[in-house]
Amino acid sequence: MNSDDNPISNDPFALVDPQLWLITSAFQNHRSGLIATFVTKASIVPDCPRFVIGLARQHETCRLIKESGSCVLHLFSREQTHWVERFGVPSGSQTDKFQSTSTQTIKTGAPVLSDAICAFDCQVEQSWETGDRILFLLQVVGVKMLNPGTPLRFTQMWNTASTELRQTLSVLLVRDQQIDRQAILKWREEAE
Ligand SMILES: Cc1cc2nc3c(=O)[nH]c(=O)nc-3n(C[C@H](O)[C@H](O)[C@H](O)COP(=O)(O)O)c2cc1C
Repeated sequence: MNSDDNPISNDPFALVDPQLWLITSAFQNHRSGLIATFVTKASIVPDCPRFVIGLARQHETCRLIKESGSCVLHLFSREQTHWVERFGVPSGSQTDKFQSTSTQTIKTGAPVLSDAICAFDCQVEQSWETGDRILFLLQVVGVKMLNPGTPLRFTQMWNTASTELRQTLSVLLVRDQQIDRQAILKWREEAE
């Protein structure tokens, strides 16, 4: 295991080591969740907490958030690296990623994984199309501390992932980059 294998290690952006988030949503008896790094706290006002997230348009979870107008942002721990394989690899359009997982709800009804460190229950206040991603401005309407733990970051996940998982993630990264590049270029053309 070697951090030189990191597919973005020669990239200055790799100096940023983001936390990994699990984002879940549900609409009409269907639920899904994905792993995301594009999550930013977007308000300094304690009584008006907000986040901005950026999700690829083709993901099932993105579709569910658009339909339902709500989602839950979770931080999870270094001991839960297996959630990356479970939620960050397959698409929830075909499978239920929550099988045998204890869930609850807070306010919006979006699924909360009880084993996470904490959960932010959110409602969409605004959204913007940017070609590859939809940016959602989220109002936090409920918060729950669930379990103690240190949130997992990308580098820790990468350095402890199996060779198979790292290979899978590298292949998916290239696939998603191609999809996103085309979507960005098309969006720019249409904006001109
Ligand atoms: C480390 C990591 C970070 C990711 N970050 C994002 C992200 O910020 N935004 C996004 O749309 N997808 C991101 N993904 C991809 C989704 O988690 C992945 O494609 C997921 O399987 C989509 O599931 P769904 O189709 O059920 O929503 C990331 C995946 C990994 C492994």
